[in-house]
This record gives sequence, C-alpha cells and structure tokens, in this order.
Amino acid sequence: MKQRNILITGGAGFIGSHVVRHFVEKYLHYHIFTLDKLTYAGNISNIEDILTRPNHTFVQGDITDRELVERVFEEYRIDGVMHLAAESHVDRSISAPMVFAHNNIIGTLTLLEAARKAWSDNFEGKRFHHISTDEVYGALPLDGGKFSEMSCYDPHSPYSASKASSDHFVRAYHDTYGMPTVITNCSNNYGPAQYPEKLIPLFVENIVERKPLPVYGTGGNVRDWLYVGDHVEALDRVFHHGIAGSSYNVGGNNEWTNIDLVKLLIEITDEELGRESGESLSLIKYVEDRAGHDLRYAIDASKIREELGWEPTMDFRQGLRHTIRWYLKRHLDK
Ligand SMILES: NC(=O)c1ccc[n+]([C@@H]2O[C@H](COP(=O)([O-])OP(=O)(O)OC[C@H]3O[C@@H](n4cnc5c(N)ncnc54)[C@H](O)[C@@H]3O)[C@@H](O)[C@H]2O)c1
Repeated sequence: MKQRNILITGGAGFIGSHVVRHFVEKYLHYHIFTLDKLTYAGNISNIEDILTRPNHTFVQGDITDRELVERVFEEYRIDGVMHLAAESHVDRSISAPMVFAHNNIIGTLTLLEAARKAWSDNFEGKRFHHISTDEVYGALPLDGGKFSEMSCYDPHSPYSASKASSDHFVRAYHDTYGMPTVITNCSNNYGPAQYPEKLIPLFVENIVERKPLPVYGTGGNVRDWLYVGDHVEALDRVFHHGIAGSSYNVGGNNEWTNIDLVKLLIEITDEELGRESGESLSLIKYVEDRAGHDLRYAIDASKIREELGWEPTMDFRQGLRHTIRWYLKRHLDK
C-alpha cells in the first residue's frame, strides 16, 4: 500500500472535519496534515477526537500565507491535496465580497503555486483535489433541468463567483502545466458540525429556544440536500480514481423547497423535544428575500455514478433526525 502525505485544508470546518476523520481512520498508511486558520467557522473541537492520532498533524495557518504554505509542502513532502478551506456563507459574501475574493481565489492560487513549486512540474503520483459547489452554475427554473458537468458557469453571488474563479484556476493548472487536478461541485450538505449560521443548525437552535425562523421570500427556493457522509465518500472516490483534468458533480437527488424543509425540521425537532406536533410552526417568519437569491439548484450526478459507482445512501429523514439529535445534544451540553 502506497504511503501518502495528504494536505487537507479547511479540516476544522463542517465538511472538512468529516473528510479528515474519514481519511485518518480509513487510511492508516497515509499521513494527514490538516491546515486551517480557525476562522469563526472553524472549530478545533470538530476534530478533537482525532487530533493526536499518529497519522494526523494539525497546522493552524492561512492558505493565503505563501511562505507558510510553501513550508508545509516542503517540510511534510505533500503529494496530495484536498482543498476545502474557504469562506462559505453567501450572506457574508454579500456584505464583504473582498474577503471572499482574497480567501477563495488568492488562497486557492497560493496552494496551486506551492504545489507546482514543490512538485517541480513533475506530477507523477500527485493529486490536487479542489472541493467546490453547484452554485457556480447559477440557478435553474422551477420546472426542470439539472446541472451537468457541461453546464455553463453563471455564478450570481460573490461567494459563487469566488468559487467559480477558483475552479477556473484549478482547471488552468491542469491545462497549462499538466497538474493532475480534479474538481467536485456538490449540492447543499447537511449533517453534524455545521456552523450555526447555516439553515439547519440555526433553525434547530431557534426551535429549541422558541425564536423566530426567518424564511427568505416565500420559501419557494429549491435546494438539493446531501448527507455530509455521502459527500465524503464521493470525495474519497474522486480523489483516488477521478480522471485528472475532470470535474464531477455530486448531489443527493433530493430536492426540497426551503419552506417544506423547514416544516420537516419542525416536525422532527418538535417530536424529539416531546412537544405537540406542529407546535413550532408559528415560529416561521417570512423575511425579505436575499439579493440575487438563486431559485433552484439540482444536480445531475450520473457521471460520478457511472464512472466511479458512487451513489448517495443516506435516507433523508433518517439523516435529518440524526443531525437534529446531534445539534440538540450540543445545545444541552452548552
Ligand atoms: N456546506 C455546503 O453545503 C457545501 C456544498 C458544496 C461545496 N462546499 C464547499 O466545501 C468547502 C467546505 O465547506 P464547509 O461548509 O465545510 O465550510 P465551513 O465554513 O464550515 O469551513 C471552512 C473552513 O475553512 C477554514 N478557512 C477559511 N478560510 C481559511 C484560510 N484563509 N486559511 C485556512 N483555513 C481557512 C475555516 O476556519 C473553516 O474551518 C468549501 O470550499 C465550500 O465552498 C460546501
């Protein structure tokens, strides 16, 4: 079995922490180096249980810090990268777009340059996996269509524009220098350890505290939800077996309007709290829509299914109940 030194950026965040745990526990012959700045969204407690494993090293640092990133590549002889570090919240990107450009674009470029330098343009056995979003494709009409890997990039928010730009740089490093890159574009993830500004953890918290549940517009926007563990499995397959220079769409084939999702969250959370069925429905509060709010995202994941045999396995209700229990426990432990 081939020994590898893999750099995982953003490993103290939501998805990154699940990726790090999966790689540390499954690939004992790999050494995982987690690089994370620990911004407001990063939390070292997300990976506390695996911090001191012999095949894991945590480095606190910024992906835009060129000197540090180059040192990490050299010192740890990195031969694979899974790049998840990013500013990830659309609302924050609307109020502070420059932060998103710097972190998501310059940060990705800094990693690509460090990889190119460390690997001296000899890419045998190397891999640069960039983790991106379906939001780069823009929005779909309510009545049909799905994003495929051939869909045009058409980002609408500063967040998705910064991710689209970073995707372009990654592809350019493959086409220009021959770096073996892969990109995955995934739909909305849910699961434990998400920062509580995002819809599911925020709303569970608000239901517990009987606070308003702010729903944008009419709640008719549609998202395709995927359990984070299914995403991690897809990333594992693409990292190891994806075709260099390719991108893969990853989705749950699980479309929900925001308002129907909120009602389901209320139903399960009320049940878990022992409240009357539907008691918290009165907490729903419709608020002014987000600027440039994309109407619908939906993913055609047939390429990853056909090429790599990946399919989502988590039942949505079951995954949601597990997730809600995790947030309820965290709330009680506070
Ligand atoms: N959450 C989703 O539904 C979703 C869906 C598709 C794609 N993605 C992508 O997956 C990746 C991870 O998303 P997430 O939801 O886990 O994000 P997150 O906000 O929960 O975590 C991001 C992590 O990156 C770290 N980070 C941010 N800027 C950094 C910097 N300059 N240097 C080092 N570390 C830095 C943060 O400390 C944090 O730990 C992102 O690239 C995002 O675009 C997310």
